Amino acid sequence: MTWQATASAVLDVNAVPILVDIDPETYTIDPRKIEEAVTIRTKCIIPVHLYGRMADMDAIISIANKYKLHVIEDTSHQHGSIWKDKPAGSIGDIGTFSLQSSKILNSGEGGLIITQNKRYYELLMSLVSCGRKLSDESPTMQSGNYRLTEFQAAIALTQLSRLDEHNKVREANARYIEDSISDIKGLRPMYHNPNITFQTYYNFTLRYALPIGMMSIGMCLSGHKKMILYKCVLAKSIGKQRVTNMFLSGKKADGYPSAFL
Ligand SMILES: Cc1ncc(COP(=O)(O)O)c(C=O)c1O
Repeated sequence: MTWQATASAVLDVNAVPILVDIDPETYTIDPRKIEEAVTIRTKCIIPVHLYGRMADMDAIISIANKYKLHVIEDTSHQHGSIWKDKPAGSIGDIGTFSLQSSKILNSGEGGLIITQNKRYYELLMSLVSCGRKLSDESPTMQSGNYRLTEFQAAIALTQLSRLDEHNKVREANARYIEDSISDIKGLRPMYHNPNITFQTYYNFTLRYALPIGMMSIGMCLSGHKKMILYKCVLAKSIGKQRVTNMFLSGKKADGYPSAFL
């Protein structure tokens, strides 16, 4: 479970991505499986903070230190999440954020890269702009044009000013759903790692246990699935008949949000 763009970025630089299986409780990279995948040719670990959970950054950083590997956080689903006191994307050497139109911070298209390492910063500036040098002393690298336009940057900055406010609403709504489904048979929220002190949601993911045996799959809610869950939660709180009446009349029940995320 990941997104192909993360692995294809590795292929784009003629490197080989090795996929590591996920932790079924969080649907993010399982740190217990990383060491099995490390070889003498490994350069980097790329955790993808997927949907509504962050990967276990303490475990990942400790493995990276042990094998002297770089860490690039794919933070495309987690603009604003916090691990202990560090924002997602700022824990590894480099953090990347998609700003594509479906993301919770978006500028239509484009992305952001953050780092606190001066050399990586200079190399990245060269990488986005046809291999130009940032200054005479800066390192350079062969590249094409990956520049974000000023118009997109202006949109992203405006969106950024509202991100915290929107994230608080998303977080409250996600907790509301989690509380509401906690005793619905077959549904289970994802594990909350207490190290994640603030969690943002690109999508809301939950575990769905099928009645046959203990098989469990993740459900990432969007479109009609979100509506089914919404009805499910409401039915539990206000009764099935009132939910049916509400949807037939098109009126929202008092005190309930009209949409979740
Ligand atoms: C986890 C993840 N990483 C990377 C990307 C790539 O982002 P972009 O489409 O901005 O290149 C996406 C896009 O959906 C994504 O979900």
